Amino acid sequence: MNVVEIIRKKRNGAVLESAELKFIIDGYVRGTVPEYQVSAFLMATYFQGMTKEETSEFTRLMLHSGDVIDLSTIHGVKVDKHSTGGVGDKISLPLAPIVAACGVPVPMISGRGLGHTGGTLDKLESIPGFKTNLTINEYRRVIAELGLVMIGQTKEIAPADKKMYALRDVTATVECIPLIAGSIMSKKLAEGIDALVLDVKTGRGAFMQTYEQSVELAQALVEIGTSFGKQTVGFITDMNQPLGKAIGNWFEVVESMECLRGNGPADVMELTYVLGGMMVVLGKKAANLEEGIQRCREVVENGFAEKKFFALVERQGGKISYLHHPDRYPISKHRVTITAPRDGYISSIDSLELGLSVISLGGGRTKVDDVIDPKAGILLKNKAGDHVKAGDVVAECFTDNDAAVEAVIHRVANAFTFASVQPKSVPLVISIVDKDGVRPFSL
Ligand code: URA
Repeated sequence: MNVVEIIRKKRNGAVLESAELKFIIDGYVRGTVPEYQVSAFLMATYFQGMTKEETSEFTRLMLHSGDVIDLSTIHGVKVDKHSTGGVGDKISLPLAPIVAACGVPVPMISGRGLGHTGGTLDKLESIPGFKTNLTINEYRRVIAELGLVMIGQTKEIAPADKKMYALRDVTATVECIPLIAGSIMSKKLAEGIDALVLDVKTGRGAFMQTYEQSVELAQALVEIGTSFGKQTVGFITDMNQPLGKAIGNWFEVVESMECLRGNGPADVMELTYVLGGMMVVLGKKAANLEEGIQRCREVVENGFAEKKFFALVERQGGKISYLHHPDRYPISKHRVTITAPRDGYISSIDSLELGLSVISLGGGRTKVDDVIDPKAGILLKNKAGDHVKAGDVVAECFTDNDAAVEAVIHRVANAFTFASVQPKSVPLVISIVDKDGVRPFSL
């Protein structure tokens, strides 16, 4: 087969055959199709899309680029969650130990930062010593011992996504439904789950900025999960402003610890409980969502969830002393405050601009081999809807990068808008999507 022909075919809007998709995917994993041709294929797909059948076949081939793990010897219904990517979205960190502490095994394979959004792996690796690249045998051992494991794609598990994910991150080819579906579902189907909860973001800081696009993505993901025999439930959730008040890898670990102690920001707690409650229902440890949420609250209140997270961090090589004493973590050379220019209500906080700002501060990548500064980031003092006075600090930016400071101050300041009247509050969890369709969400 000729790779150039395949790229040209996709560029011209044709549907690719299974053998053609396989040639690109397998060739990329083996190193026989070079990165520059895969980049061109990704960009052609970004513009031309894929049919439903093509997306499903692309996902299947991505999945079978590596091993599909069988966890049938692990007792219980194995359930995982995945987010389509957001700013300040640290939900997996408190969520996975909460659900595991409820008795539902959680085998989780996540990704690194993608585009302007942060990634669970980078957050976990900001804990000194934490290893996310376990072998399949280690992965099995950890889930068997703790009922919880958190790793990344490896050379054995979802290797096509491991490589393509990193390439999409730096070639502006992230915001594309078939590529997102193939990426998410290939790793989720490889990890040995029985059921999956999806957090599909919508708004400024999401890859799908309109509600309609987000529903389309959610439906594609649910359809693929269901066709592979996994019970799959999606939630469409708001990503116009960042989740919580911490953006940046280590800061998000610290905020996650607050959530595990029940003291996290209201939006992070709400989303963690809704997604966690549904995972507990799918894991057959609760009869309905209300009961699932109640179970999650209990393991936060009695400290079991926090203990589970400590056990995971220690088991995967991380130093829990930093979780007990975050004040001992290194701090950035520059700490710059952003203040409100006038009295009034914060009417919006642009999550896309803040996500991009964190990359400039050193907390994300613009090239495949960029090294992340885990302590870089932004701490918000307020959320949209809060009242502030002129001169109040609304955000603090942290970086070692001398060159970034000046430009980032303006970018972060411009991400805030103010108004004299309080903006109407918008629901965080907007709708629920499953094999029966899309419905507005309410508890
Ligand atoms: N999460 C993933 O794993 N892949 C994507 O493409 C987007 C979010």
